[in-house]
Amino acid sequence: MTITIRRATKNDMPIVFKMMNDLAATLKQNAPSITLEDLYRDGGFDGDLSYFFALLAEDSKVKDSKGLPTAIGFTLCSHSYCWDGRAIYMRNLLVNDSHRATGVGKMLFNAVLRYAKQTGVNRIELHVCKTNPAQKFYEKMGAINAAEKEGHVYYRLYKDVINKFHA
Ligand SMILES: CC(C)(COP(=O)(O)OP(=O)(O)OC[C@H]1O[C@@H](n2cnc3c(N)ncnc32)[C@H](O)[C@@H]1OP(=O)(O)O)[C@@H](O)C(=O)NCCC(=O)NCCS
Repeated sequence: MTITIRRATKNDMPIVFKMMNDLAATLKQNAPSITLEDLYRDGGFDGDLSYFFALLAEDSKVKDSKGLPTAIGFTLCSHSYCWDGRAIYMRNLLVNDSHRATGVGKMLFNAVLRYAKQTGVNRIELHVCKTNPAQKFYEKMGAINAAEKEGHVYYRLYKDVINKFHA
């Protein structure tokens, strides 16, 4: 089994979209509300602001119906900023059942770390459900429970609040 990690291009958005839906199903969450067209628009492929980047893990032995390598794992991240400077938010990480516990998650995580180091990123953020065993994986990768360490509370404003806003 030869695994390669590469950055997803515009052509890869259908598989990124599928993996996002697979991740939601794995986590027993509602399917993402975004569409494939949103990914084409928001990946910065046509010189616009890039809201995310994605990395794909491929196994040379796993091909799609056209005989092309297809992803067996992915991560989707966004560029961010904080008072330490450049940051990355790691949003999604999934390795297909068939390839779990073979080091693919670590390869994807290390690829983000490598990119972070090469581009002067000083912080990688992520959050995970309290009941998700992936916490152990993240801790193995060096992640610290910042909520515990720094007493943070994680907030989010949902779309209904944004849409209700009147200037
Ligand atoms: C979390 C996930 C990406 C890990 O991927 P993986 O390819 O199975 O992990 P790896 O084989 O690369 O494991 C790397 C290390 O983490 C450890 N590890 C991985 N998952 C672990 C778990 N659930 N509990 C304890 N340790 C774990 C491995 O033992 C390994 O340790 P080692 O380096 O000492 O050998 C994968 O389990 C997954 O896709 N889970 C479902 C989706 C999910 O929960 N994603 C995160 C939330 S968005």
